[in-house]
Amino acid sequence: MSRVALVTGGTRGIGAAISTALKSEGYTVAATYAGNDDKAVAFTTETGIKTFKWDVSDYDACVSGIAKVETELGQVDILVNNAGITRDAPFHKMTRDQWCDVIRTNLDGAFNMTHPVWNGMRDRKFGRVVNISSINGQKGQFAQTNYSAAKAGDIGFTKALAQEGARVGITVNAICPGYIATEMVMAVPEKVRDNIVAQIPAGRLGEVSEIARCVIFLASDDAGYITGATLTANGGQYMA
Ligand code: CAA
Repeated sequence: MSRVALVTGGTRGIGAAISTALKSEGYTVAATYAGNDDKAVAFTTETGIKTFKWDVSDYDACVSGIAKVETELGQVDILVNNAGITRDAPFHKMTRDQWCDVIRTNLDGAFNMTHPVWNGMRDRKFGRVVNISSINGQKGQFAQTNYSAAKAGDIGFTKALAQEGARVGITVNAICPGYIATEMVMAVPEKVRDNIVAQIPAGRLGEVSEIARCVIFLASDDAGYITGATLTANGGQYMA
């Protein structure tokens, strides 16, 4: 039986590339999404990957959603915590809601999703948790105190949990994408985006497939001795 992989925010952007790459590698894949039903239906039609709707910032929704995935597809062996949002604003203009929304989705979401699958992975002595952090969690970013704090938190979460999983066959790693050509990055004002691209030694935005390939490697048996690592894929923009 093929291993089951669950990808949050798995119907769009980097997440969609991860879901389809995992499917191509022979995993049984479930992709979650928070709101866009039309995109999710189109994604399933196109790829044959089952989608499930819940909000990763809601712990109870994660518990019941994961139970549904496990009933339909089997126990989760690979979890990719990819779901993330931005609410960019300079700190003096940032509202408490903008702060809380980002922390709840991008940081609490990693706890909410990992906690319900953790004991199953421990019992079966196998698991892969891959947390999609960000270059901006490593270097900080103007107008992203919320996002940078959450994404840096994801790296700390990764390093701590890796120590707990290591003896029971579970690896926990983080990937830090740089600026990738997704809707999220395209939402940055064009002039600002051009300035960012000018700072990338590779001279271009990254492709979603370049992040998906990192996940495939970390999920594989070949990566069994790699845990607590932060894999950067940013075209040389920041060397941690
Ligand atoms: N460093 C220093 N100053 C900066 C700056 C920077 N990086 N960016 C903007 N500023 C300055 C501006 O020049 C401006 O200064 P003045 O008032 O003196 O002209 C001021 O800060 C911004 O003032 P605004 O009133 O224009 O700010 P705003 O409330 O309209 O916000 C913004 C604009 C949200 C900052 C917008 O510029 C923006 O979106 N910036 C990009 C932020 C970014 O990189 N986000 C990443 C999104 S992609 C992602 O997060 C994925 C990932 O993981 C990589």
